Amino acid sequence: MTIAEQVDWLSILVVHGPNLNLLGQREPGVYGLATLDDINRWLESDGEKLQAKVSPVQSNHEGALVDAIHTALGQHQGILINPGAYTHTSVAIRDAIAAVKVPTVEVHLSNVYRREEFRHHSYIAPVAIGQISGFGSDSYRLGLQALVNYLRQVS
Ligand code: DQA
Repeated sequence: MTIAEQVDWLSILVVHGPNLNLLGQREPGVYGLATLDDINRWLESDGEKLQAKVSPVQSNHEGALVDAIHTALGQHQGILINPGAYTHTSVAIRDAIAAVKVPTVEVHLSNVYRREEFRHHSYIAPVAIGQISGFGSDSYRLGLQALVNYLRQVS
């Protein structure tokens, strides 16, 4: 790739929260059979078509996720995040997204609004541009597309 071609590329941080490392074997009836590696590969390949370099990170620890979000400052133009169970509990992750002010799309494999009531509230949604929930691994792919479209419109 030439330098001229690289100039228009966006850099997107993809953040996967707790237990998502077990995708493929974790409650497949709810979360599907795709593994985290599958999802990351699909995002990488979609990203190439969208001229967006995708950098995935996964952690089961809230502080590590906060640290990862901080790395977006000055390094990534957008964040695609599935905060997992921290969606429903974490003021720290919400504050990190608000602090870095990097446009963020929240995604969920399952439709959290059709599930237990404790999953209906998201601490992240008010600081995200938008949320996509319920389309399995396509939630990530739709989220990446929406984030890139948003970034191209504002830049
Ligand atoms: C999830 C939904 C959360 O409620 C749950 O705790 C997860 C995964 C999803 O992708 O559907 O870990 O974020």
